[in-house]
Amino acid sequence: MASAVYEQTFTPFLREIEAEMRAARQEQSEIAPILWQVIDYQFGWDIPPEDSARFRKVTGKKIRPLLMALVAQAVRGDYRHVLPAGVALEFVHNFTLIHDDVMDESPERRHRPAVWTRWGPYQAINAGDGLYALSFLASTRLHRIGTPPAKTVRVVEWLARACLQTAEGQILDMDFETRDTVSTDDYITMIANKTGALIECAAGIGALLSTDDEALIAAYTDFGRRLGIAFQVRDDYLGIWGDKAQTGKSTTSDIREKKKSYPVLAAFERAVPADRASLQAIYRQESLSDADIATVMDILERTGAPALTDQIARSYYDGALERLGWTGADQELIRQYAAFLVRREY
Ligand code: IPE
Ligand code: IPE
Ligand code: MG
Ligand code: MG
Repeated sequence: MASAVYEQTFTPFLREIEAEMRAARQEQSEIAPILWQVIDYQFGWDIPPEDSARFRKVTGKKIRPLLMALVAQAVRGDYRHVLPAGVALEFVHNFTLIHDDVMDESPERRHRPAVWTRWGPYQAINAGDGLYALSFLASTRLHRIGTPPAKTVRVVEWLARACLQTAEGQILDMDFETRDTVSTDDYITMIANKTGALIECAAGIGALLSTDDEALIAAYTDFGRRLGIAFQVRDDYLGIWGDKAQTGKSTTSDIREKKKSYPVLAAFERAVPADRASLQAIYRQESLSDADIATVMDILERTGAPALTDQIARSYYDGALERLGWTGADQELIRQYAAFLVRREY
């Protein structure tokens, strides 16, 4: 889906998500004026309202609250009752991004300097922590709109467990940088944690807040987990072959940081012996030069890593769609959105 079509279809949802985000932040304005400068930057709230094109570039896609809203719309015919949970999730996601850029030494995020590039790594840690707290405050707004207490508790529990999984995934991701052998199974476990957990949570909570049918909640949860894996594989693709003008983030830092992303693992597995030996020699070094990065890129191309990466994303996407049992007009939006997520260029 071209980005204009994307925006047109999903604008009503995104508008309400944005309003709920700002309301949750506004409520806490008095507490931490210095922190807000950093948080406002992360969400593009430092951009004047009239500069909407610039705002859209720097604010993030908000895929998690949007997915939650689309599931709610399909299950219950409305989505406003999930907005506080979606916003809590979006705050969690952004907290992980702020910390992730420190860990990955990624200087840019959303077409501008990452928080740590602008304020330094220590303040980025503080800002991420602040945003984590804001996420739990945002989730208390569920109570205020009359969500049954037992459901609110389950949402908070779900969010917290997903945060544990994300931390576990990030630990594995960092650990893999210095490990010689990482299998594709190890990789799937890692991304199911670091990225799948929050997307699983998005679809699962969307259903949980919209029905008492546990089988339906479980189906949407599984859909989200598989889609989350496909989403991260696509992110790995864009991390190497994406266009920086579209993604707004570096296309060399994954290789430079020796990330065991799917394209790299595919090349390690499939390369002819001479290429495999070159890869091993390069990845055994402490750091990679520009020439090493160019060699890795050549080997990836020669082994067909781009197509292999597409295939694995596609297979998890297909698996996700299989979990959507029936078709209806509202569910069609979920399908369109899932298709966008695995084909996206940004
Ligand atoms: C980036 O997530 C990090 C991953 C989990 C791959 P998004 O692609 O959702 O980032 P934004 O919020 O739109 O910038
Ligand atoms: C995504 O990490 C997962 C989290 C941020 C928790 P990545 O490091 O793969 O994502 P990008 O490429 O920096 O957005
Ligand atoms: Mg990372
Ligand atoms: Mg990163």
